Amino acid sequence: MSEHKGPSRRMLLGAMAAGGAAMMTGMARAAGDPAITELQPWMRSLGDGVDAHPYGMPSPFEAHVKRRNVEWLTADPVSSVNFTPIHELDGIITPNGLCFERHHSGIARVDPSLHRLMINGLVDREIVFTMDDLKRFPRYNRIHFLECAANSGMEWRGAQLNGCQFTHGMIHNVMYTGVMLRDVLAAAGVKPTGTWLLAEGADAAAMTRSIPMEKALDDCMIAFKMNGEALRPEQGYPVRLVVPGWEGNMWVKWLRRIEIGDQPWQHREETSKYTDLLPDGRARRFTYEMDAKSVITNPSPQAPLTHGKGPTVLTGIAWSGRGTIPRVDVTLDGGRNWHQARMDGPSLEKSMHRFYFDFDWDGRPLLLQSRAHDSTGYVQPTKDALRAIRGPDSIYHNNGIQTWHVDERGEAENVEVG
Ligand code: MTE
Ligand code: CO
Repeated sequence: MSEHKGPSRRMLLGAMAAGGAAMMTGMARAAGDPAITELQPWMRSLGDGVDAHPYGMPSPFEAHVKRRNVEWLTADPVSSVNFTPIHELDGIITPNGLCFERHHSGIARVDPSLHRLMINGLVDREIVFTMDDLKRFPRYNRIHFLECAANSGMEWRGAQLNGCQFTHGMIHNVMYTGVMLRDVLAAAGVKPTGTWLLAEGADAAAMTRSIPMEKALDDCMIAFKMNGEALRPEQGYPVRLVVPGWEGNMWVKWLRRIEIGDQPWQHREETSKYTDLLPDGRARRFTYEMDAKSVITNPSPQAPLTHGKGPTVLTGIAWSGRGTIPRVDVTLDGGRNWHQARMDGPSLEKSMHRFYFDFDWDGRPLLLQSRAHDSTGYVQPTKDALRAIRGPDSIYHNNGIQTWHVDERGEAENVEVG
């Protein structure tokens, strides 16, 4: 920033003296603080040289910022899930090493030189692409969230897991670089009868999902990069399907085959799994779109308020599979009074959004909730409203409002208000 264009230093200091005085008193450090007066070890000797870490890693002081699983949830880690530490992140982008993982048969270690993508079925020309072939289609960059349909599934019948990492951490938001699925399909020439496609993974599960052609031609991508670098093995290296706004299960990793057909295949992941049992014994099926949802990430059970009364930054994330999030409301008293939160950062289609609510905490207990509004006008429902329609037996597609109780000490807990 050039100095003459920005506000002058005197102006900034003036503003701090007026508006920031109250805030600063709460933050003043005691005179004689050894963190100021003592030379620290890192000030006394030279640090590592430039090549000490050819691939950089976070500071060791950030070692607690990591994916975590819940061991009792699944019988074995190769068919399991871990969770993004959303309470430790800010902005809207999930760092590659922290994206939650969901595998049905572990992480496939694919050699890209031996990886092929086959297009077969109702096409004019069956084609097999190498990775190099795929990279010759026009390339696009898109930021999208991926949410597993089972995110918050353990919370359907009541508050259970104590931390937003576990209740809402089956989500990540990444910039994908790749090619449009429609361009790749055009190269094969989809026959007029081709109305569905089946995406298949190269992992031992050979995971498959049926996808309507309309969606495939709309905004689906075949991605090979995330946040600028190659996909991580956990996320489907060397290629995965990106199905913006739709449930994570459809985003087939290690994508090896796309078959064109004229009806859905009715495979395991769209019949026995990823369907929602209703009270009358029938099940909702093909519930692709992820409804608008939000959660307060700070404070939350893993991120208590440790600073006492006074200026407090409340923050959280919101997203919708149908568009953007123009507005999030926040309540501090379990829904009696709602306040409009401040949105900050990029607002992109089918991408995560960041909200803040800056308030003065009076030290009394809080019942925190957030409520997302999406660009279609849909408003995030309460958990009771969801259960009234869908009954007690659902797991998937729980986008109900989350509540955290914060006590006088600032400790937070997962609760539900009726
Ligand atoms: N693709 C393959 N080939 N194998 C899998 O086990 N899991 C699916 C989907 N794609 C899966 C897959 C599920 S259920 C989800 S939620 C997402 O991948 C998780 O993507 P992530 O591991 O990048 O978070
Ligand atoms: Co999933």
